[in-house]
Amino acid sequence: MMKKLIAGNWKMNGSLAANEALVRALRDGMGAPACDVALAVPAPYLAQVQALAAGSALALAAQDVSQHESGAYTGECSAAMLRDFAVRYVLVGHSERRQYHGETDVHVAVKAQRALAAGITPIVCVGETLAEREAGQTEAVVRRQLAAVIHLNGHCISEVIVAYEPVWAIGTGKTATPEQAQEVHAVLRAQLAAASPHAAKIRLLYGGSMNAANAAQLLAQPDIDGGLVGGASLKAVDFLQIIAAAQ
Ligand code: PGA
Repeated sequence: MMKKLIAGNWKMNGSLAANEALVRALRDGMGAPACDVALAVPAPYLAQVQALAAGSALALAAQDVSQHESGAYTGECSAAMLRDFAVRYVLVGHSERRQYHGETDVHVAVKAQRALAAGITPIVCVGETLAEREAGQTEAVVRRQLAAVIHLNGHCISEVIVAYEPVWAIGTGKTATPEQAQEVHAVLRAQLAAASPHAAKIRLLYGGSMNAANAAQLLAQPDIDGGLVGGASLKAVDFLQIIAAAQ
């Protein structure tokens, strides 16, 4: 069976002191986890968390990457810069980037390509809004978002991780039921299978109010290969329980 991945997404939270306490507690409490574990931290803290996580099972992730290679793009971070801090994964097309920063499917595809070219695994986020779900458009929306990254120049889709995050479940405490999540994951798996012989090996994460209480049931679904965890990744006790649930 494929190893699951539990990725914490700190979003715009943290401080030098809080990060140090959190990463130390994770290191102490984690032992040798059965799953892969990553922390997507704010860019200014990459160096700090790289040092704190050294020699542990914690891999470093970034929350975004520039679609440009280098140059006059004030405020942006390039894939090569992330690579300098040994970043293994980068979130691409998180719904908060799509919603508040106008990121389109085209931007998401270019960003995924930039990450791959730098040797960083993109975690491509897809998911429908509540209005789209209520209008019966869930499948069409996630299929369109995934289609944008399915053919990346010189790369195979099997190099990518996909995270299904229903927008209505993010930060709301309203988790998709395991059945609702599995239903969408199966759609994504079928779409990947039509594009790649390696679809069974592509990790499909679920995100959206995953917590210590609901993680085990979500992670038991056949097409859920891990979690992208926001709020609950900021509390060591909760995040450790989610890691323990990912066998
Ligand atoms: P949440 O966030 O776990 O706080 O709902 C998940 C995410 O946005 O990645």
